[in-house]
Amino acid sequence: MRLEGKIALITGGASGIGLATVQKFVREGAKVMIADIDLERARAAADAVSGEGFDGSVAAVGVDVSVYAEVEAAVARAVEHFGRLDVIFNNAGIAGGRPLLEHDPVKDYEPIIRVDQDGVYYGILAAGRQFRAQGTGGVIISTSSIYGEQAAELSFTYSAAKAAVISFTRSAAYELAPYGIRAVAITPGRVGTPIINQFSDDLKATFASEQLRDRMTEPSEIADVVAFLASDESNVINGTVVHVDDGYSVFKQRLDLPVF
Ligand SMILES: NC(=O)c1ccc[n+]([C@@H]2O[C@H](COP(=O)([O-])OP(=O)(O)OC[C@H]3O[C@@H](n4cnc5c(N)ncnc54)[C@H](O)[C@@H]3O)[C@@H](O)[C@H]2O)c1
Repeated sequence: MRLEGKIALITGGASGIGLATVQKFVREGAKVMIADIDLERARAAADAVSGEGFDGSVAAVGVDVSVYAEVEAAVARAVEHFGRLDVIFNNAGIAGGRPLLEHDPVKDYEPIIRVDQDGVYYGILAAGRQFRAQGTGGVIISTSSIYGEQAAELSFTYSAAKAAVISFTRSAAYELAPYGIRAVAITPGRVGTPIINQFSDDLKATFASEQLRDRMTEPSEIADVVAFLASDESNVINGTVVHVDDGYSVFKQRLDLPVF
């Protein structure tokens, strides 16, 4: 098993990509602390995964990743419960937006920056300190987005926060390498989770057409890559962005061009 004996903290682990990653990690031999703002859902997820034959492998803690003290406490809880920390997956995120010139900064800038940007910084800081104290090294994986590398509709703030995640990853990899710590960012494309499933079928079909397999990505497909990135098999991948976007970022749209 790829993650045998590893201890991981997964933020946003109660739903979507985070939950699929919790499931994948325990199947690969890891022990996982689910850290989510929705504690009830996080506990239910932990119970469900435990009930699938993984009793003792998963627990839950409430955290608002936009508050450093809470992230630090979640890391401490994982260490207290499982004895150590080897991997943090900074994945909790919120989306939403409106056209730039209609922004109310308090509603349309600050909350997304606090969760999607500050929350990842706090995860890197708290886990990095823990890894250094342990002297064991560690892996930091953070969820950016295709929007972290491009402009998009209603995405001014979200794109900025997701771009920061990529920058944090490069700098963290550089600064923390002497402690044996790796940092990697992933950029999902269109993944079938509540963030996207709220949209109409027509819009979802358009989203699917933006990817090379002409379908939405399953959360479990992202989780498969995250498990690889958390494992020692990917020790040479550091400070970089792994595009988990089914080709979204390599083309604009399929054109029905005549041969010429
Ligand atoms: N679904 C997609 O297509 C897609 C594409 C690119 C990037 N992403 C990113 O993937 C990550 C996971 O998203 P998802 O699609 O699985 O969404 P999701 O809504 O299913 O899951 C997000 C989880 O984060 C938790 N959360 C929200 N705010 C929090 C906070 N302040 N503190 C702690 N937990 C909090 C939620 O309770 C939820 O469990 C996000 O960072 C998102 O931006 C998603």
